[in-house]
Amino acid sequence: MCGIIGYTGPKSVVPILIEGLKKLEYRGYDSAGVAVVNKSKIQVRRVKGKIIGLEKNLKLSPLNGSYGVGHTRWATHGRPCEENAHPHQDCTGSIVVVHNGIIENYLPLKQKLKEEGHTFCTETDTEVIAHLVEKYFQSSLEEAVQQAVQELEGAYAIAVLSTRDLGKIVAAKDGPPVVVGLGDKENFVSSDINPLLNYTQKIVFLEDGEMAVIGTQGVKFCDFKGSVLEKKVEHITWSPLMIEKGGFKHFMLKEIFEQPQVVRDTLKGRISLDSGKICLDEIGITPESLKDITRAVIIACGTSYHAGLVGKYFLETIARVPVDVEFASEYRYREFILDEKTLVIVISQSGETADSLAALRAVKEKNPVSLAICNVVNSSIPRETDGVLYTHAGPEIGVAATKTFSAQLAALALLALHLAQVKGKINEKESLSFIESLQRIPHKMENILNQAKSIEELALEFVSFSHFLYLGRGVNFPVALEGALKLKEISYIHAEGYPGGEMKHGPIALIDEKMPTMTIVPRDGVYEKMLSNISEIKTRDGYILAVAFEDDEEIKEKVDKVIPIPSVHPLFTPFLATLPLQLFAYYIASKRGADVDQPRNLAKSVTVE
Ligand code: G6P
Repeated sequence: MCGIIGYTGPKSVVPILIEGLKKLEYRGYDSAGVAVVNKSKIQVRRVKGKIIGLEKNLKLSPLNGSYGVGHTRWATHGRPCEENAHPHQDCTGSIVVVHNGIIENYLPLKQKLKEEGHTFCTETDTEVIAHLVEKYFQSSLEEAVQQAVQELEGAYAIAVLSTRDLGKIVAAKDGPPVVVGLGDKENFVSSDINPLLNYTQKIVFLEDGEMAVIGTQGVKFCDFKGSVLEKKVEHITWSPLMIEKGGFKHFMLKEIFEQPQVVRDTLKGRISLDSGKICLDEIGITPESLKDITRAVIIACGTSYHAGLVGKYFLETIARVPVDVEFASEYRYREFILDEKTLVIVISQSGETADSLAALRAVKEKNPVSLAICNVVNSSIPRETDGVLYTHAGPEIGVAATKTFSAQLAALALLALHLAQVKGKINEKESLSFIESLQRIPHKMENILNQAKSIEELALEFVSFSHFLYLGRGVNFPVALEGALKLKEISYIHAEGYPGGEMKHGPIALIDEKMPTMTIVPRDGVYEKMLSNISEIKTRDGYILAVAFEDDEEIKEKVDKVIPIPSVHPLFTPFLATLPLQLFAYYIASKRGADVDQPRNLAKSVTVE
């Protein structure tokens, strides 16, 4: 949570910080601020609310400077208000800090610093960092930061500047991400690469325990003891156009429409339609290591967790490997049972989710084979797993995940087929049949997206409802969970996802004409069971919508509205059934005037526990 940015170079600093913060806003948006250095004076401007408010404020009363830092906040310690907004300052106002993360020992540190005479102005944990840097400052900013971080417990990505050591921004990382962009006589620091794409594609990723001293003429990397480091410069292939809305009203809508391409890109080069072979040589885990795997544990949060639930069906059905799917935030605190024959799969779009990362670190003590399924190259999680299977979804800006879910499903289907082949659980004919089905999915997704108008018309009939039930069975139960999550997170309508068969053990009590039910009813092995569940709702005056195969005539008699999807191998229904549910949630939220791309209280990348 929270985004940090810093710039030093010849351009006007404030517009670069503001544009950068807008691209980081998905990380938190309850307050924002910048600090710029003009000659030898630091000027700070902070506002409660979104970047747009900060931008307006700066237009009315501009700040000029030659370099500076900025921050967009998702409050953890201290309510969202101007005083608690970053950047935070020391007693003298000559040091400012922006911070992403949590300083867990801030209370004792604060107490000690107060006893030493420091005066605090905010309720935040971050302010202690500014005072610690002040305490240790002798001649160079980086040395003071090195000493300050020795006292910190918790997680932090920080950028610090000071008028006592002009011309540099010092960044340090232990936990949340820090990337450094190397430009032509200008350099950047940021929480992710998006703000940098317009300026440079040369990026350095800091590791935990590393620092960068960023000046206009160059960047020096060192560890927390001051030893100089040679860092590898990565060349990023994402383009600036990928993070524009491209004519769509919201990023979320654009990203929903990108799904056919995202699935194509994730499958590309990894499947052979001639031999039926899956080629995942790139993942960094050899077929020999996978061959002996006896079970898999999938660890994830949010939408990635729902992808994991679908992945369980793929892996168990295709590769015959038993799978447990776990919330990272729960699993990490369990007495989990794992061994070196367990494949641990951490699914994370961002690769930075704090609970997923912590769960990965916890399980590694048991020496399992670990694989990340991740969208952001070189992010923290894939850097710590034995291997990584990247989803090729491109940057996802909408806080509610859409295209990365589909890309994760594609990656999981590839992994299931690969494991099945390596373990000899599938013959060539079966492989080819699955691959052909997968190959046809993008085109079928396009057919669904071509019906967006009729899904919009349908959705508009439900704009004023307050409750929704989503039901699915088997591989479509996770789709029900994901459909309900999309609706609640962007439209603020209460929605529950349930397995169809469990409905009569509770949720059925809620059914009345004010609580419609969205069902996912492909013609699969549990079709008849779903029809029974539907009939149970109908007899209680419930209104029913059904996502069903377009050639299914029977369903039309049983429900109030059908959302047709092309028929597909039943196991792969989630690829298709999810799309109308995303659109349905999107159109309702958009009509209700909700902030679709940045729903209240949420953040895209949850880098605190
Ligand atoms: C947040 C986001 C979700 C995302 C979840 C897990 O809650 O709002 O969209 O699914 O984090 O994120 P990850 O990056 O680990 O997939």
